[in-house]
Amino acid sequence: MKITIVGAGSVGASCAEYIAIKNFVSEVVLLDIKENYAEGKAMDLMQTASLNNFDTKIYGCTNNYSKTADSHVAVITSGVPRKPGMKREELIEINAGIVNNVVNNLIAHSPNVIIIIVSNPMDTMTYLTHKVTSIPSNRIIGMGGALDSARFKYRLSEALCCPASDVSGIVIGGHSDKGMVPLTSLATRNGISVNEYLSNETLENITHQTKVGGATLTSMLGTSAWYAPGAAVSALVQSIVCDQHKMFPCSVMLNGEYDLHDLTIGVPVILGKNGVEKIVELNLNSDEKESLMKSAEGVKKTNSILVEMGLI
Ligand code: LAC
Repeated sequence: MKITIVGAGSVGASCAEYIAIKNFVSEVVLLDIKENYAEGKAMDLMQTASLNNFDTKIYGCTNNYSKTADSHVAVITSGVPRKPGMKREELIEINAGIVNNVVNNLIAHSPNVIIIIVSNPMDTMTYLTHKVTSIPSNRIIGMGGALDSARFKYRLSEALCCPASDVSGIVIGGHSDKGMVPLTSLATRNGISVNEYLSNETLENITHQTKVGGATLTSMLGTSAWYAPGAAVSALVQSIVCDQHKMFPCSVMLNGEYDLHDLTIGVPVILGKNGVEKIVELNLNSDEKESLMKSAEGVKKTNSILVEMGLI
């Protein structure tokens, strides 16, 4: 099994590190446009192999897509990250051209690849990938909801004073500060609704903190976060490569599900060896449905910029 990660910045390198540490693939190729950068990150990571006990070979290359040939999964992290105060949507002008170029180069060398998009604005970059390639919908996956759900569980565990592993929670909708829809009605601690333990006010605060989770870290770090994004990607890759059939909210093309059409937005899916094995339709309450519809309007608005840019 071979995984390619395009973009050897902090998120890309963190993905490579978590995938290697989990030791479930033979090779990870890191590709970057910056001369020798991916090679350096790969060498640094390979020097942790004997310390962290992994056998995965991490290989770095400068913009040489022939080295990515026959990848099973490719993760796209390329483009610019946000700076403090910026919205993810503001990155579209630069990142859309980059993602368009990257996906086409990848597919030329790995026609059967499953693509995971991380570059922002992620839902729109996922939509772009559908429109500029002819690969089937099950092989195009946007990573946002898995990260947002991990941030939701972190906030819930903080309020419940318990480990995050005791908590179950899911965030659907667009991967944006306004678009995320944390489903508090379905969140539990070991199967018991969090409503039993937390007040409405606390849950509203958790919802807010979850939605601005990325922005909070960007203001603290001066650039966007990388550990949780990398860990979230590695979990998706593992579910695909090991055919685990785990459920994660991912940005996938909807054609009627949730009454949405021709739109990529975060909903729960089952990930296995074919990529998206199934889209799971939840019974949302009326508030959640309304929030998802509002979120969809936001993603559509950002997608319309792709048309203005002449990319689709
Ligand atoms: C974040 C970026 C990956 O939310 O969108 O940290």
